[in-house]
Amino acid sequence: MECPILPEFSADSSPAAQPAGAALAAARRRLVLLISGRGSNMRALVEACRAEGWPADVAAVISSRPDAAGLEWAREQGIATQAVSHKDYPNREAFDAALAAAIEPYQPDYVLLAGFMRVLTPGFVARFAGRLVNIHPSLLPAFPGLHTHAQAIATGVRVHGCTVHFVTPLLDHGPIIVQGCVPVLADDTPEALAQRVLQVEHLAYPAAARWLAEGRVSLAADQRVDVAGNPPRLFMIESSR
Ligand code: GRF
Repeated sequence: MECPILPEFSADSSPAAQPAGAALAAARRRLVLLISGRGSNMRALVEACRAEGWPADVAAVISSRPDAAGLEWAREQGIATQAVSHKDYPNREAFDAALAAAIEPYQPDYVLLAGFMRVLTPGFVARFAGRLVNIHPSLLPAFPGLHTHAQAIATGVRVHGCTVHFVTPLLDHGPIIVQGCVPVLADDTPEALAQRVLQVEHLAYPAAARWLAEGRVSLAADQRVDVAGNPPRLFMIESSR
């Protein structure tokens, strides 16, 4: 299958970047976070945004599950929340249309998937092309899909991790912004490994979000990501054992 491509862009082409001059410097980027469950990545992003000097705000958290624990936490934080349950729609197209309609009023510069467990349609991906980012718990292109930690253990890889990437219509695929890696230990269970990977996810995703918000991320014609200033784009957590 031919790889879908994203249009060449830089983060400066985002809507909030359109005004010129001082307004541009002062512009704060708007993030909408999509979740389906626990929301620990969402929390890491919300807390990072609140840190001094961050040029971004979380405009809303939208969940595909009304009972997502992360939704409750976001609500308690005073963040606008909404649930768009896939169970209320007959097919993916209808669900994605409702999801897009829920997102648009917040006028996000970026839509960040943070544990969002639905496969998005090509139409939805095209609508937010260049503004849609995901975190996946593996070192892509290894282990797309589910049960990545069990797959890592079963395969015998010695290093595992996470990937923050732009979304394309292919599942868990797209230009890589940052990765995080952890060792796989001899006696690892999927749960223990997941916990270790989560630690590095909570470093990698806020870093990527900040680079995006700062307008430093661009996509070259060859589909590779460039981050102005060349910050390290690999986070590593070594074992404490
Ligand atoms: C994370 O491992 C993320 O990479 C994956 O789903 C998990 C969500 O965890 N897409 P949380 O809801 O962010 O705690």
